[in-house]
Amino acid sequence: MKSIATEQARPGQILGRQILSGDGVLLAGQGEAITENLLQVLKRLKIENIVIADSERKKVLLVDDNMTNLTTGKDMLKDQYKVYPVPSAEIMFDLLGNIIPDLILLDIEMPVMNGYEAIKRLKSKPDWAEIPVIFLTSKTDEGSELEGLSLGAIDYVAKPFSAPLLLKRIENHLFSAMQKKQLKAFNTSLEEMVHQKTAEVFNLQNAVLGTVADLVEFRDDVTGGHITRTQKYLEILLDKLVEEKIYADEVSGWDMEHLLPSAQLHDVGKIGISDMILNKPGKLTPEEFKIMQGHVAIGVEAIKKIEQKTTEHAFLRHAGRIAGTHHEKWDGSGYPDGLSGENIPLEGRLMAIADVYDALISVRPYKRPFSADEARQIIEDGKGTHFDPVLVDVFSKVANKFAEVAKKEQGVQ
Ligand SMILES: [Fe+2]
Repeated sequence: MKSIATEQARPGQILGRQILSGDGVLLAGQGEAITENLLQVLKRLKIENIVIADSERKKVLLVDDNMTNLTTGKDMLKDQYKVYPVPSAEIMFDLLGNIIPDLILLDIEMPVMNGYEAIKRLKSKPDWAEIPVIFLTSKTDEGSELEGLSLGAIDYVAKPFSAPLLLKRIENHLFSAMQKKQLKAFNTSLEEMVHQKTAEVFNLQNAVLGTVADLVEFRDDVTGGHITRTQKYLEILLDKLVEEKIYADEVSGWDMEHLLPSAQLHDVGKIGISDMILNKPGKLTPEEFKIMQGHVAIGVEAIKKIEQKTTEHAFLRHAGRIAGTHHEKWDGSGYPDGLSGENIPLEGRLMAIADVYDALISVRPYKRPFSADEARQIIEDGKGTHFDPVLVDVFSKVANKFAEVAKKEQGVQ
C-alpha cells in the first residue's frame, strides 16, 4: 500500500483502503477505481492521504552501478512507483526472468555490460522489446544521445537530473506506453471481430447455398446425397493434387474454403428442368437428353446473376466453372461447348471424375449401382477420352478413399 496526495492520484487508480470523510461518511470503498469526480471531492475536502492498492503501482527498474544514484533514485521514485534498484545490467537480466517492469531507467556507463549493449539485448527479445527504456547518463554529447535513441530508448536524461522533471517524463512515457498497449489490444480484438464476422458470413453463405443445392436435389429423387458425396470425392482429389504438387501453379492460387462449397452448385441448373424429364423412370430420349443438358446453361446463368449482385467473386468464379464445364470431356466430345484438354477449366475436369464416379455407384431407374471396383475401372477406361489423364492417375492413387466414401454413404462394396 502507498499513501499519496490528491495531486498525485489519478483517475483509474484502484484504492488500497476505504476513504472516510472527517465525520465518518464513506467516500469510496477499498478496491474502487478513482473517478475524476471523486478526485475533485477529495481535493475539496482536503483529503490527501489516498492509499493506492499496491498492485496498481507501476514497476520501474532502476539500473545503475553507482550505489548513491540507486539510493537517491529509489527515494525519489518510491512514492509513486514500485522501484527495483539493480546494480548491473547482468542482474537486470536475471530479474527480467521473473519481473516484467513497466519502464527501465538505464545507466550507460557500467562495467562488464554497458547500457548500449543492454538495450540491444532487451530489444532483441520479444518479451522485453516493448518495455520503455530511458537512459540516465552523464554522457551529454549529441553523439551519445543519438546513439541511445537510435538503439530504441524512448528518452535520454542527463545526470544530474531534476527530480520533478524526471518524474513528469516517466509519467508521460508510461501513459503513452499504456495507450500503445491499449491500441494494440483494441486492434487485436478488432481483427478477431472481423475474422469472426467473416466466418459468420461465410457460414451463412454456405448454409444458404447448401439449402439451395438440397432443394434442387429433393426434386431429383434418384440422386439423394449426391451433392455431399461429390464434394467429398472432390476433396480427396484436391488433397492428393496438393500433396503431389500436380497442377501446382493453378491449385496453389485456390482457396479450398471457397472451392469445395462452390461445388455444391454444380447441378443448380436442374431447377429449370421439368420433373417429367428429371424423374423419368427410364432412359431419356435424345430430345429429352438435349433438354437435360440445358441444366448447365441454366446453372451458369443463375450463378452469373448472383455474381452481378455481389463483390464475392472467388467463390462464384469456381462455382461458375464447375457448373459450366463438369460435363465437358477431355477429347472434346462433351457438352455444352465441346471443350477439350486443358481448355476445360481444372475445376470442371476434377468435378467430372467426382460426378461420374458418384453416378456410377448410385442406382438409377435404368441401371443398377456399380461396385466400387467397377466404377474405378470405368473411370480408368475413360483416361484421355472422357477424363484428364493426369487426374485419372491421381484418382487411381486415391480410389480406395473413394470406395470408403461410397461404402460409408451408400453401402457400396
Ligand atoms: Fe450435371
